[in-house]
Amino acid sequence: MGKQIILNAFEMTSAMLNSHGLWKHPDNIRHYRYKDLDYWTEMARLLERGKFDAVFFADVIGVYDVYQGSKDASIRDAVQVPLNDPAFAIPIMAQATEHLSFALTVSTTYEHPYAHARRMSTLDHLTKGRLAWNVVTSYLPSAARNFGLEQMIRHDERYELADEFLDVAYKLWEASWEDTAIVRDVERRVFADPAKVHEIHHEGRYFKVPGPHLSEPSPQRTPVIYQAGTSPKGRDFAAKHAECLFVGGPTAAQTKAAIQDIKNRAEALGRNPEHIKAFTFLNVVVAPTREEAEAKFTEYAALWSGEAAKAQYGGSSGYNLAEYNDPEAYFEYKHTEHGQSRAASLTKEAPKKLKVREVLESFDKLNGKFTILGNPQEVADQIQTYFEETGVDGFNLAHFITPGSLADFVELVVPELQRRGIYKTEYKPGTYREKLFGPGLARLPEDHPGARLRTF
Ligand SMILES: Cc1cc2nc3c(=O)[nH]c(=O)nc-3n(C[C@H](O)[C@H](O)[C@H](O)COP(=O)(O)O)c2cc1C
Repeated sequence: MGKQIILNAFEMTSAMLNSHGLWKHPDNIRHYRYKDLDYWTEMARLLERGKFDAVFFADVIGVYDVYQGSKDASIRDAVQVPLNDPAFAIPIMAQATEHLSFALTVSTTYEHPYAHARRMSTLDHLTKGRLAWNVVTSYLPSAARNFGLEQMIRHDERYELADEFLDVAYKLWEASWEDTAIVRDVERRVFADPAKVHEIHHEGRYFKVPGPHLSEPSPQRTPVIYQAGTSPKGRDFAAKHAECLFVGGPTAAQTKAAIQDIKNRAEALGRNPEHIKAFTFLNVVVAPTREEAEAKFTEYAALWSGEAAKAQYGGSSGYNLAEYNDPEAYFEYKHTEHGQSRAASLTKEAPKKLKVREVLESFDKLNGKFTILGNPQEVADQIQTYFEETGVDGFNLAHFITPGSLADFVELVVPELQRRGIYKTEYKPGTYREKLFGPGLARLPEDHPGARLRTF
């Protein structure tokens, strides 16, 4: 059997995701149902019916308020706000399913590793090993202010802090409780053997954590590690830690090159590049006929909000598009302390040098360039070509209408991909890491830096 597509649903426990302005569409029920447990269990069952590997919960800890120097555009159009804590949706979705896994975004800048490690162990226990952690360093200045900082910790330093954060977490997960620590010996009156529960004695630049870990070892110990940094510092971080990474170059060739670059960096660090799966974004508008799919896209385009799109871009890149008044000037790269790949994709990494007018237009109109549209065969053709050309292992599927676009994908595209043999018809057994990398591999592989911190 050839390589098969790994599929995640891109989600957020918010009123809207990145379908800017489309909360107004009558079929978009998420903006009033995202607060209901039933909404998330129905979503979980739908995704498991479509044999999705995981639901990927993005998360931010702040309001997007860079565009126009104001939160107004974000609040008006529900740009990732209001936003609940995604961790709470996971146990209920796990209970409604057997195989679907969960990638949870947690920021290393605004959490503490000791408390975080316990929360992740808890979720790994409750899901029976179906958990991943998307490690982010956070790009919103409003998050920094709400955590009492005058300004954001600088971009590169955030990665240094993240690196130590992961060290602490790995030590708690991998080097604290031995597998045989819990004995439950009623006669000897010993629940767990204290000699097998170790302190970690971590003392670093940012954290001092003696341990031990509060949770007993969960099925995977360390959750599957996701990462999406694509700046040079981000790539080094991904090469060291990521088991699943996101790359999203403006072209298929750039995506392929980015994947290869990170895998090369991983190899230089002594990791097997086969232990890394690469993902990219996918957005699909599908209908039984191409004409119907085009009609849907036209409907979505009429509801699009350019203001919301600019608000989201402002927070993630640090570029306030309201300040660009000369349409004929070139849109130049400038360094910011926000996420750097968003800034680069429209400037130094853009396939051609863009004028301000072109950049603003690309936000004002729903851009069909990144959407795969057509009947099921046409959509499957394009997915297959992209999958084969770029060498990605999987996709994070976005959706204009929730849950409608996901339901269309499950009903129309999944059977077509299955017919072509490039998508699973049955789940593999085991934890999330085993489903991704093979039976018996529930725990971090030996070449991973987290595994190298094991002491027993
Ligand atoms: C698919 C994908 C999902 C992401 N999800 C989040 C997220 O949920 N929260 C967040 O703060 N950043 C998220 N990011 C942003 C990344 O964590 C990172 O900040 C961004 O890619 C810029 O990285 P760089 O500064 O190394 O270029 C995501 C990026 C991608 C490509």
